[in-house]
Amino acid sequence: MKAMVIDRFGGSDEFRLANLPVPRPGPGQVLIRVAYASVNPADWKGRAGMLPHLGHYPFPITIGMDCAGVVTAVGRGVTGFRPDDRVISLSGMGLGLQGTYAEYVVVPEPRVAPLPAHLDFAAGATIPIASASAASSIIDVAKAKVGDAVFVNGGAGSVGTFAIQFLKHLGAHVVATCSTRNVHHVRGLGADLVIDYLREDIAAGLAQWAPDGLDAVIDAVGQHSLPRDMPRLIRPGGTLVCIQNLITGVEDFDLDLAAARNVRVVDNVADAMTEDPTWFQVHAFRQLLDAIVQRRVSVPPYEIVPLEQAGAAHDRVQQGHVGGKILLKIADL
Ligand SMILES: NC(=O)c1ccc[n+]([C@@H]2O[C@H](COP(=O)([O-])OP(=O)(O)OC[C@H]3O[C@@H](n4cnc5c(N)ncnc54)[C@H](OP(=O)(O)O)[C@@H]3O)[C@@H](O)[C@H]2O)c1
Repeated sequence: MKAMVIDRFGGSDEFRLANLPVPRPGPGQVLIRVAYASVNPADWKGRAGMLPHLGHYPFPITIGMDCAGVVTAVGRGVTGFRPDDRVISLSGMGLGLQGTYAEYVVVPEPRVAPLPAHLDFAAGATIPIASASAASSIIDVAKAKVGDAVFVNGGAGSVGTFAIQFLKHLGAHVVATCSTRNVHHVRGLGADLVIDYLREDIAAGLAQWAPDGLDAVIDAVGQHSLPRDMPRLIRPGGTLVCIQNLITGVEDFDLDLAAARNVRVVDNVADAMTEDPTWFQVHAFRQLLDAIVQRRVSVPPYEIVPLEQAGAAHDRVQQGHVGGKILLKIADL
């Protein structure tokens, strides 16, 4: 099978189109023929050597965190899927398995889900990692509930797009940031207030919108995009969720101030990690997927490029302003 692999960590020019044997599913695993793999920020970070759990992978490594495609075989003990099922999937990267930039990928069964019937493979491929991260941050970490006032930093991104819509589906009030060109789009996702971070003062806008303090913040940008004294804008008992970006983290914020105000500032991965990492974010992912099936949540806009253009796609995603998903087309299914 063809796969885009790297032989060492480094820049986007490290990709090489390789011919690899088709993997075989072990017990509890599913073999998927991949139609599309999405390009996530974690992919360029993994390629660059920033994902600690890839440190002990042997080279060549196939990158890729999620995909949409068709089941072609299942391992012993798999009960939920069979050949020809149309599916979307989180990959097993970090669990010792290879990524999705390939014609076939093996993944643990819990990380696979049916492709929603109203979506094609391309739309489905936009869903897994971004929605799992959004849903887990909202349900597992922030524990958001009806009536909460929640701020999504990075409303135009893939995680932000799912987070805003899912929060509205859960009955929360939502304020989100984005750049000027995305204000209309983010408002269309259902945000009650959109703050244009290029033109407006974020702290002043939030203080006016939630004078008693925010219940939760989902920070899907990091990198010093929010004021250090952000905990001041969160009510006692509230949570600031830093979506792990591997560049900056909870230390972006004044943790003494947070402690004094009884505000939790947490990394979404550390806070929600499960004893068996196969199940990490899976339950939340399924809840958001239900909302997609009910057509309460729609997928981000996307564009499609050939698998061979993975390097160029990584460079664009690394810039941080793609405004939707880039999908790698691998097969016509
Ligand atoms: N650990 C996990 O569970 C997990 C999973 C998925 C993603 N992540 C991390 O979450 C982050 C977001 O991922 P993603 O997939 O949503 O990325 P993405 O689709 O590439 O979106 C990035 C978005 O950030 C926005 N942005 C950039 N600078 C901003 C700023 N200063 N203020 C507000 N918005 C800003 C951009 O919108 P504008 O063009 O409008 O600025 C862009 O739409 C990444 O760091 C990624 O690594 C973590």
